Amino acid sequence: PPRVYRPTESGVNGMLSGMGETSIGKGENGVLIVAGGQATRLRYPYPKGMYPVTPIKKKSLFMLLSEKVRAVSLRYGADIPLLIMTNPESDILVKRYFEKNGFFGLGRKNVLFFQQELLPSVSPGGKLVIREDGLLASSPDGHGGCLKAAFKSGVAGKLKERGIRRLFYCHVDNPLVKVLDPLFLGYHLRSEADFSLKTVRKRPGEKVGTFLYADGKAAVVEYIELNEVLDEGGSSHAVEAFDSGSIGVHLIELSFMESLFFKSGGLPYHRQEKELQIEGGKRIGIWKFETFIFDAIPFAGKVSCMETSREEEFAPLKNFSGMDSPGDVRKAMSSLHRKWLTSAGIRVKKKTEVEISPLFALDESDFARKMKGRKLLLQGKSLYIE
Ligand code: UD1
Repeated sequence: PPRVYRPTESGVNGMLSGMGETSIGKGENGVLIVAGGQATRLRYPYPKGMYPVTPIKKKSLFMLLSEKVRAVSLRYGADIPLLIMTNPESDILVKRYFEKNGFFGLGRKNVLFFQQELLPSVSPGGKLVIREDGLLASSPDGHGGCLKAAFKSGVAGKLKERGIRRLFYCHVDNPLVKVLDPLFLGYHLRSEADFSLKTVRKRPGEKVGTFLYADGKAAVVEYIELNEVLDEGGSSHAVEAFDSGSIGVHLIELSFMESLFFKSGGLPYHRQEKELQIEGGKRIGIWKFETFIFDAIPFAGKVSCMETSREEEFAPLKNFSGMDSPGDVRKAMSSLHRKWLTSAGIRVKKKTEVEISPLFALDESDFARKMKGRKLLLQGKSLYIE
């Protein structure tokens, strides 16, 4: 089975980070943010990337992630293309938002948008469904749709022309993501992997995909489907499940994406049951279909998996209230940044809200370096460092 790499137990992190840094400096990596989901659980009327997520400055997810890309570009002196996958309904809003905000300093030529496709939804009897507004019920084809869409839109071709060899893939909803983390990249490169993923230790019952090993192949199985797989395990499958939860952070070789797109029959479809209001105001159950990017894993020649710390890298914005809600996410951001201050020898009260701009520091050691010899004057309840 593929090993789960735990940086905390390893003595070669410096060497791996060095490999990652060299690769970033060569300008051979792009960043892909999948932002085509409908974000129904968040109950936000605009694309999720526009959600004002940060604790003090209320920066949107798009702004924060773009600043991270810019900070990495500046740090390593490389031009990093940022790809944003939208859906046909959100596309225009997202593009206008980036234009209005001057592409967050990344430069127009470095931000490439492309749209995923929609798939028709059907009634459980297999019939097409007409929505309340008279249009055919359909929904985005899942984040796995990025494979098809990147090639069909011509974006993948443009990347190849620019000498891009792989993509750092992430979800739009995790403000703690370490964009193009050099250690993760170094591990991916040293493993000669086609596809890499980052995981955290799963909490019991947590709604994340599980990294596992089934029938001789590595895979991620979605939380809803895991029990089905394990039930079948006794009869026909050999399944070894880890306590590793996928956080939707990957490195994917472009050549592997290309071979998947052209050679395999595409990624499998997953059925999801949803409710929809149809003509006449009636609500009915429908089936929608999605493909998942992590279904590429079993096709990969080599897969590498690195475990990371939830506190440092995973605080997804999913729900309107309760777990993974805006309050939760802001708390996680603030406590991580408070920890950076503490380890740099700066004392802050537990109640002080802290936000550190990615353009000031990208991680704890970067922060400590930048703070050397500087003093902070702490006043009031919140602290923003830029
Ligand atoms: C997802 C993963 C889960 C992982 C968790 C981490 C799936 C099926 N499951 O769960 O394994 O542990 O994230 O947070 O992905 N998106 C598109 N197009 C679509 C659908 C989704 O671009 O058609 C994007 C969303 O905009 C978002 C990301 O994919 O950025 C994740 O989608 P979401 O629906 O939030 O996935 P989860 O079910 O929360």
